[in-house]
Amino acid sequence: MAKNEQLQEISQLKDIVSHAKEYGFIYPSSEIYDGLQAVYDYGVYGVELKNNLKRLWWETMTRLNDNIVGIDAAIFMHPTTWKASGHVDSFNDPMIDNKDSKKRYRADVLLEEKAAAFELAGDEGRAKSLLAEMGRLMEAEDLTGIRDLINRENIICPISGTCNWTEVRQFNLMFESQVGSVAEEATSIYLRPETAQGIFVNFLNVQKSARMKVPFGIAQIGKAFRNEIVARQFIFRMREFEQMEMQFFVRPGSEMEWYHHWADRRMAWHRAIGIPETKLRRHDHEKLAHYANAALDIEYDFPFGYKEVEGIHSRTDFDLKQHQEFSGKKLQYFDPEINQSYIPFVVETSIGADRLFLMVLSNAYKEIDAGDKTRTFLKFHPAIAPVKAAILPLTKKDGLPEKAREIFETLKMDFKVIYEDAASIGKRYTRQDLIGTPFCIAVDHQTLEDDTVTIRHRDSTEQERVPIGELPARLAHETSFKRIFEKL
Ligand code: GAP
Repeated sequence: MAKNEQLQEISQLKDIVSHAKEYGFIYPSSEIYDGLQAVYDYGVYGVELKNNLKRLWWETMTRLNDNIVGIDAAIFMHPTTWKASGHVDSFNDPMIDNKDSKKRYRADVLLEEKAAAFELAGDEGRAKSLLAEMGRLMEAEDLTGIRDLINRENIICPISGTCNWTEVRQFNLMFESQVGSVAEEATSIYLRPETAQGIFVNFLNVQKSARMKVPFGIAQIGKAFRNEIVARQFIFRMREFEQMEMQFFVRPGSEMEWYHHWADRRMAWHRAIGIPETKLRRHDHEKLAHYANAALDIEYDFPFGYKEVEGIHSRTDFDLKQHQEFSGKKLQYFDPEINQSYIPFVVETSIGADRLFLMVLSNAYKEIDAGDKTRTFLKFHPAIAPVKAAILPLTKKDGLPEKAREIFETLKMDFKVIYEDAASIGKRYTRQDLIGTPFCIAVDHQTLEDDTVTIRHRDSTEQERVPIGELPARLAHETSFKRIFEKL
């Protein structure tokens, strides 16, 4: 990527971050204490948008698919869960400290950044060979080799400016705490690093209680926690985040068919919520995790480049087998169609609610030339927009506020709407554009005569006159999830 393109992208991310704060989407956590790195709070409109996205995902999974049901497992799980899943032993990142600045870095990220610098300087060959060498060392878990490579490439700490590095060590990403009030009796417990394990350990509970037949899926939305060392790019990589995961249990041997099915379905979902095909791509993993026989990422072209939004993984029978072994409890399914018992294979779809939020926000953020000024607005699909309509009396007198309030009181029963009468109508339209409200309903003097209002459309700014009586049906049609579901 050329340097000026990169600068433009950085400034676009900065614009999105400051817009998100100023207009109530995302605030830094505990900001009055200077914030907490990689932790964020959702604001007034952010929480509405995030809830809409979660509800849309949930209903797509559990309502459109009659063979998918949901659960809500606890964040804390028996510690052996994480031994069985492999997280205690291998959910690690290679870390290196600079002895002068005392700053800690991810060793692979330092090398990736060096490769990016070579690429920026036009030396693509050197960038590629550096990444290949790093890949080889990472695969062999050769931590000394990684440190030697960092030294050989003269990588310096941006804070101290020195190459005075420690050894590379593996650092587990799970947050650990203690349960039990007496120190000697306390047991280590982890904040879950993924929601999936809550689904695996409940596999038979769900199958039996809901009388599910393979193939079937279990969906879940919930918080996950990772002690990410490289926490950058706003809400892209957080320490506390939310996952929306679905494990689809299938007959062994049929997993590849289902893997392709879910990859296609999830891609279609991203397009249906308004993400252009040109900004999405599929990245097939060449190097697979030990438990997977196929994996891909759905990537979006963020202001900082193509990055993973969702992962589709064919996880074989690894997790259920491990839990069966560690718990000593059978986790098998009797398949009446073939008269056999087996441990099902699993195809997983896993998306971060926060990353989805960032993709939707980045995609919606529009700055367009409007003659003498720049017009900024958020072009959300009406079904996911935080506020569906604003009811605005043209002036604060002549009975217009009363009439507008009447409309507001009716519409609020079915839709998230707001009433606003302060400032000029133009300023109020602008404010609604900035939070992405698709429709502004203006109440004027004609309203009092013929019970009609104007609807101003956010994207085109065009206005049309409609009878008040038609508003509920119009809004219901425009903001319904059905419009997204029909595209799937
Ligand atoms: N159960 C599979 C799993 O957890 P993952 O690729 O580590 O796989 C799945 O995570 C998704 O969770 C990612 O595609 C991303 O959307 C989200 N995610 C992972 N780590 C995250 C983080 N630190 N901050 C925000 N979202 C994250």
